[in-house]
Amino acid sequence: MKFFLDTADLNEIEEAASWGALAGVTTNPTLYSRVGGKLEDFHDHIKRICDIVGPDCPVSAESVAMNRDELVRDGRQLAAIAPNVVVKIPTMIDGLAATRALADEGIRVNMTLCFTVPQAMLAARAGARYISPFIGRFDDISEDGIEQVANIVDAVSNYDFTADTVGGEQIEVIAASIRSANHVTQCALMGADIATVPFGVLKKMVSHPLTDRGIESFLNDWEKVK
Ligand code: G3P
Repeated sequence: MKFFLDTADLNEIEEAASWGALAGVTTNPTLYSRVGGKLEDFHDHIKRICDIVGPDCPVSAESVAMNRDELVRDGRQLAAIAPNVVVKIPTMIDGLAATRALADEGIRVNMTLCFTVPQAMLAARAGARYISPFIGRFDDISEDGIEQVANIVDAVSNYDFTADTVGGEQIEVIAASIRSANHVTQCALMGADIATVPFGVLKKMVSHPLTDRGIESFLNDWEKVK
């Protein structure tokens, strides 16, 4: 399982990257607005994220265009920022068409706001490199987000989509809208390829009271050895 950071905050990305376990970054318009981002700085901001994480970490940058041609135009511009930029596109008819066009040009797409198995199947056949089902937003409407996302992970693993993806790469499911370390546990158990987590959740994933207590007692006992 790989971990992506779900944020547009450069400080959080720098900090998380220094921990050694970060494999990518996902952003969305909400996350960019949360850090005070402005439209005219968006491409520069994505470039700065790419520079922080390095060329091996995919960085998802979302298009807010609503029709195929604009999504494709936007996608090309976003992909030109850096080779590791992945164009994030919502699951909708024009989004599927744009994903196909961009994939045919060798541009990787992360198909987002994916909530059902049929949506995921279509996204995969349209050439999406990543599919992002949302856990927390399912929970928000009193559905079992974990169960829904596990269904998508299962369904995607039933088929070989490598003929549809850029360079025949393996499609990966990014479990998104993660709100707790327990969500991460469930994602690992269901076999999600990637979990994209907010920085707060990443911090919680590291710690446990028994770890803290154990470190403290080892340090105390080491004092006796000296
Ligand atoms: O990457 C998008 C997704 O993770 C959003 O999460 O908490 O706004 O539902 P949330």
